[in-house]
Amino acid sequence: MEVVIVPDAEAGGELIAEAMAALLRRKPGAVLGVATGSTPLPVYRALEAKVRAGEAGVTRVRIAQLDEYVGLPAEHPESYRSVLRREVLEPLGISADAFLGPDGTTTDVPAACAAYEAALTAAGGVDLQLLGIGTDGHIGFNEPCSSLASRTRIKTLTEQTRVDNARFFDDISQVPHHVITQGIGTILEARHLVLLATGEGKADAVAATVEGPVAAVCPASALQLHAHATVVVDEAAASKLKLAEYFRHTFAAKPSWQGI
Ligand code: F6R
Repeated sequence: MEVVIVPDAEAGGELIAEAMAALLRRKPGAVLGVATGSTPLPVYRALEAKVRAGEAGVTRVRIAQLDEYVGLPAEHPESYRSVLRREVLEPLGISADAFLGPDGTTTDVPAACAAYEAALTAAGGVDLQLLGIGTDGHIGFNEPCSSLASRTRIKTLTEQTRVDNARFFDDISQVPHHVITQGIGTILEARHLVLLATGEGKADAVAATVEGPVAAVCPASALQLHAHATVVVDEAAASKLKLAEYFRHTFAAKPSWQGI
């Protein structure tokens, strides 16, 4: 696992967007796995700037969703499909046909989960999966004690996650209890995992992810099992890392051609 400590969220966004742009230059039909929430927004804005500047093309890219609320109408402004349309597809000029995601409006959740797994396989798998992290260490919506081998399925959100996400709704009663999320086993099949964490509120979860044991109680610790996982953190999110100086030193000494 590589840990990169950046000065702020914008620098993290730029670093990850450059990795995405480099991927698109070598593989124009790449599948980009995207996350929602506040953390990835600087990545999407930096990637948009690169696409506008002609540094990366998105005519053949496909965009794969990580997770979705169950029961929100697809056109609800806070369904993750709507959020990704607003934050990623429209600004980057990517057509809706290039979007892969689970159907959170379904009445047959197991079938929707199986269909999404099949769609990811048919697309050739995810090349780069961007992840955020919950204050409880969740990735996607794999809450603590999710199986590290799990596949796309329904999960129940913890009360902490509902409280954390209430800021996107008028009040907490509107935050759904259930979600469809790629499983940890599904996420681990992406070729490159890139987790971005910013702010002091993520410092404990980041320390458990990077320096704690691999344990389902901190789902993000499963990244330790992946051969190409990059954790990008700002100073505040890195503040509880015991090996912070080592991580700074190794990144500073890295050849610039290597990327993340
Ligand atoms: C949502 C997702 C979640 C978020 C996490 C952090 O698609 O994957 O794991 O990344 O809840 O959310 P923010 O970035 O809003 O703190």
